[in-house]
Amino acid sequence: MNILVIGAGMYVTGRFSSGPGSVLATIGEVSKSMRIDGVTVVSKNDSSREDVFIAVSEINTILEIGLRVDYEALGENSIEKLKTILQKKEYDCGIIALPDHLHYDFAKVLIENSIHCLVVKPLTPTVKESMELIALQKNKNVYGVVDLHKRYDQANLLIKDAIQRGQIGKPQYVTVEYSQRIKIPTIAFAKWVKLTNIFQYLGVHYVDMIYFMTGYHPEKVLAVGTKGKLTELGIDTYDSIHALIIWKNPGNETEKLVSQFSTNWI
Ligand SMILES: NC(=O)c1ccc[n+]([C@@H]2O[C@H](COP(=O)([O-])OP(=O)(O)OC[C@H]3O[C@@H](n4cnc5c(N)ncnc54)[C@H](O)[C@@H]3O)[C@@H](O)[C@H]2O)c1
Repeated sequence: MNILVIGAGMYVTGRFSSGPGSVLATIGEVSKSMRIDGVTVVSKNDSSREDVFIAVSEINTILEIGLRVDYEALGENSIEKLKTILQKKEYDCGIIALPDHLHYDFAKVLIENSIHCLVVKPLTPTVKESMELIALQKNKNVYGVVDLHKRYDQANLLIKDAIQRGQIGKPQYVTVEYSQRIKIPTIAFAKWVKLTNIFQYLGVHYVDMIYFMTGYHPEKVLAVGTKGKLTELGIDTYDSIHALIIWKNPGNETEKLVSQFSTNWI
């Protein structure tokens, strides 16, 4: 199998973090049980080449494997360069790990080229873009998934199991408190943080978890945010976002659930 990874940042290589990231490390782990002939990582700048090779060397040492990874820079006209790469070599699947606002354009190119595709969360910043990708994916009959990996956390699976067995009764409300260090917006995502926010980055995981655990659908949403610290640092995004979501059971619409989220990048 040949895999194309688009993006070479923190999630792929562990840049600005303490380990070799998640995406390449996961492919390395999978390579122990499934034949992976090669991985090509592409991203905008040639400077990411070193991050990729450092991560791969660490992964190969820790896992005692020989994963083969090459790197290609896409440059400024990255979509057009990607299209030429896809003409030269066949890929069985692609993983998109780019800033949120680029997911749509790159996923569209992969799906149009009939490549099975995994997009990291959030799928896209707008519902319209997500619906268009889903329609295209159905039309091209390719596999398309979003990496909502918290569905596999053991603690979350235990909660889901307890709810579905009726062990804790019918849930009435859910409280989510989720925060992340300020170095993420100020250092790791400095180039694109103005185009996202803490709810879009972290909150979406537990919106998905509530759906995953209960099957309920969101009915009403209210969200507010606070600004101050990050704007003082020249970054125009919210420090914290607080959302209230009312959910209904599609099987019995009188059954409701209220979730309150507080997320912050303070
Ligand atoms: N960092 C994490 O732990 C994590 C976890 C889950 C999901 N995600 C998601 O992964 C995505 C990327 O996050 P990250 O942490 O790797 O970000 P990052 O800023 O560290 O990396 C972004 C990568 O995209 C590349 N890029 C930017 N513009 C490009 C363009 N026009 N063409 C080609 N490449 C381009 C950059 O060169 C870089 O390699 C985001 O959607 C994020 O929500 C991240």
